[in-house]
Amino acid sequence: MTTVENYKLYKTLGEGAFSKVKLVKDEHGSKFAMKIMKNQPKDKKKDAKATFLNEVFAMKELDHPNILKLVDYNTDAKAIRADGSKLKLQYMAIEYAEGGELFDFISDTGRFSEEHARYFYHQLIDALEHMHEKGYKHRDIKPENILLDKKFQLKLGDFGFATKEEMSHTRKGTYGYMAPEVLAKQPYRGEEADLFASAVILFILVTEHPPFLRAETSDRYYKLIASGRWEEFWDIDSDLPLSKSFIDFFTRMVSLDPVERMTLSELKAHEWFNGPVPSDKEIYESFKKRRKIIKKNQKKDSHDKKKDHIEENKAQYDVKYTKFYVVDNAETLVDYVVACAEANRIDYEKSKEFFRVEVKINSDDASSHIMINVLKKPENADRCLEFIKISGSKTIFESLFAEFKEFCDKEIKNPVKVKSFTDKQSDIIHSL
Ligand SMILES: Nc1ncnc2c1ncn2[C@@H]1O[C@H](COP(=O)(O)OP(=O)(O)O)[C@@H](O)[C@H]1O
Ligand SMILES: [Mg+2]
Repeated sequence: MTTVENYKLYKTLGEGAFSKVKLVKDEHGSKFAMKIMKNQPKDKKKDAKATFLNEVFAMKELDHPNILKLVDYNTDAKAIRADGSKLKLQYMAIEYAEGGELFDFISDTGRFSEEHARYFYHQLIDALEHMHEKGYKHRDIKPENILLDKKFQLKLGDFGFATKEEMSHTRKGTYGYMAPEVLAKQPYRGEEADLFASAVILFILVTEHPPFLRAETSDRYYKLIASGRWEEFWDIDSDLPLSKSFIDFFTRMVSLDPVERMTLSELKAHEWFNGPVPSDKEIYESFKKRRKIIKKNQKKDSHDKKKDHIEENKAQYDVKYTKFYVVDNAETLVDYVVACAEANRIDYEKSKEFFRVEVKINSDDASSHIMINVLKKPENADRCLEFIKISGSKTIFESLFAEFKEFCDKEIKNPVKVKSFTDKQSDIIHSL
């Protein structure tokens, strides 16, 4: 088990571009979501760190029942793995949204009634109102960032792109939810972009599909909105029992020109917004039912996946399979493979043109026969590393290949003395 300070890490809850989110428990057994900044390539490191700190500062200032609360953070923490190895990381411990993403409920159990959609829309608007009052704009309102707690109350998350700037100039967010002025790379107001995205979300809640792919006039659906061909637009959903006031509400939220759209106080005064909502208890009961269906489907899914995996493995077992990898400094690589082979008393053949090592791996349930050839490419002095699976598990083969490739990427291109093994390298040897 991996630990980070006083937290024990459990399953992965989700993943975004910059981070991985783990379920953790503290020393009292309380559950939190730990957002861990992912290791980034060098050119992205700065961006990732800025996003991380930006999120911390925004969350510290926000305090609302429909916004995830930051509990703790550390930009200089250490993870300790079960084998004792350590890893530096930056984390945020956040209130755990046990109900998961709101949209999983739709994709697995179907559209919401307008009343149920209104219940969650109120909560989303409340969260946005709190943010906007504090001067923050979210700029990444989308399904993956809208979560539910264990009582199925909405919790807005992911403040990596939140900003206090009056006018934004950088295009942030996800295409399907971006307002037209954002997509068109014009300066835009974050509040207006947030409200536009909220309307896209509302539309999906009620119809189970997005209103358009992108809010651009080249989009076949948004084109209808931008040019006022509303009859044609709503015709697409004519099989759904949409209320007149819903249609009017959405229409006033997604105009091409932001000035024509309702402001937050205008939308709150709209007839649709003020329609009936279910009680908390009704929502709880209805979502418990929905969750049961999801769990049933998940069980079936994982059963099917396992079955597929076993069948795929069977089919792959006796298939010969080759992967190539070209390296610049082949002699170093040959030395390395020789050292690995010698350390493990594996026979190898070496000649001027050609080097080969054959590996037979016996694990509990399978044996694999893998051949590694280092070939000289005729047109230049480069060598090509040829991995051949003669028989056995493709999974073992793939992981061995991945480890060698990683070694080659890191070490061979900047030659090192391969005879002195690092831990990582001796791991590779042991896996041989
Ligand atoms: N507090 C939380 N509780 C439960 N799941 C969460 C929580 N925070 C994030 N997640 C899950 O992790 C995913 C990624 O988190 P997010 O904060 O959006 O990261 P990123 O900034 O990388 O997009 C979310 O879409 C969600 O599925
Ligand atoms: Mg996210």
